[in-house]
Amino acid sequence: MVSFSSTKLLLVICVMVISAFSVAIGGKFNEEFDITWGDGRAKILNNGDLLTLSLDKISGSGFQSKNEYLFGKIDMQLKLVPGNSAGTVTAYYLSSQGPKHDEIDFEFLGNLSGDPYTLHTNVFSQGKGDREQQFHLWFDPTADFHTYSILWNPQRIIFYVDGTPIREYKNLESIGVSYPKKQPMRIYSSLWNADDWATRGGLVKTDWSQAPFSASYRNFNANACIPNSPSSSCSSNSATSTSSSWLNEELDNTSQERFKWVQKNYMIYNYCTDSKSWRLWVKSEVQDGHFLYKLLLILRYCGGGVSPEMEPPKKLTPPSLLKESECDQKSEEGWEVVTV
Ligand SMILES: *[C@@H]1O[C@H](CO)[C@@H](O)[C@H](O)[C@H]1NC(C)=O
Ligand SMILES: *[C@@H]1O[C@H](CO)[C@@H](O)[C@H](O)[C@H]1NC(C)=O
Repeated sequence: MVSFSSTKLLLVICVMVISAFSVAIGGKFNEEFDITWGDGRAKILNNGDLLTLSLDKISGSGFQSKNEYLFGKIDMQLKLVPGNSAGTVTAYYLSSQGPKHDEIDFEFLGNLSGDPYTLHTNVFSQGKGDREQQFHLWFDPTADFHTYSILWNPQRIIFYVDGTPIREYKNLESIGVSYPKKQPMRIYSSLWNADDWATRGGLVKTDWSQAPFSASYRNFNANACIPNSPSSSCSSNSATSTSSSWLNEELDNTSQERFKWVQKNYMIYNYCTDSKSWRLWVKSEVQDGHFLYKLLLILRYCGGGVSPEMEPPKKLTPPSLLKESECDQKSEEGWEVVTV
């Protein structure tokens, strides 16, 4: 076990190393991205300033970043499929490779004309996701471009929409929740047909008479670290204190207020409060009293990092506290531990 203070020291060292290699990248799509599929349906236009994806009955399309990033603040402006976009999904996310991959997701689920898009978010760490939160937006995302940002630093992941934080996922490794911090990730985006589940759970199908569907991207901007790159590309633009402030970025009071406003008024699904697993847990605990076993299952469901193969810890954090902490930004102070 590493003590808290040495973990902290390690973090400080990491941060120092990272800031030395942080780069600011401004966005020509032809320089920063590769079109990966879609057979001509994805296009880079206006001298690299604009990228469009399209979807028809035969295929969708997609692109990915040339670089991999390990921590960063990444902004992209998107204008989503207008009109009847039911059944379509525009995904914009960071992901590493392999079965134990990490991933930070924005997914935009289309809807019938006049009905709201759903913005679906998720965080995978070590191959484990199931951390969905969904939102409606306070504007029409098809009428104009809006900025969707991912802040990813060693302490937290924050999802922003036009600078308003909508979700925060904290590093809670100290209580056994795994956190993406070792695997570099690429940016990916795609537009595809998901009418088997996307709109009202698959009830509303894609209306192909509206095809081709199209989404647009512009103003890509990243302050990020690019690991394993020749020092020239990493240190040529070595970080000044302002360009690396994202490394310590957290929600200030004003952002906290905005954040609460979104969570209160626009969040439509939160895995943390999904009652299915909780009802199951309470019921079975009451019925047969297999407390430890049930607790492990719940920890596994809501926290990651704890699996049944692990030796049962002697002391456990109550699942309600763990959930609140992972989900509602409870402070780490004042943790209670129970002896089982
Ligand atoms: C579509 O619109 C309906 C009705 O307003 C809403 O309940 C739903 O969340 C919207 N989004 C999706 C993806 O179904
Ligand atoms: C933020 O809020 C806390 C407590 O609510 C307060 O102590 C602190 O002074 C505030 N900071 C700013 C910059 O307003």
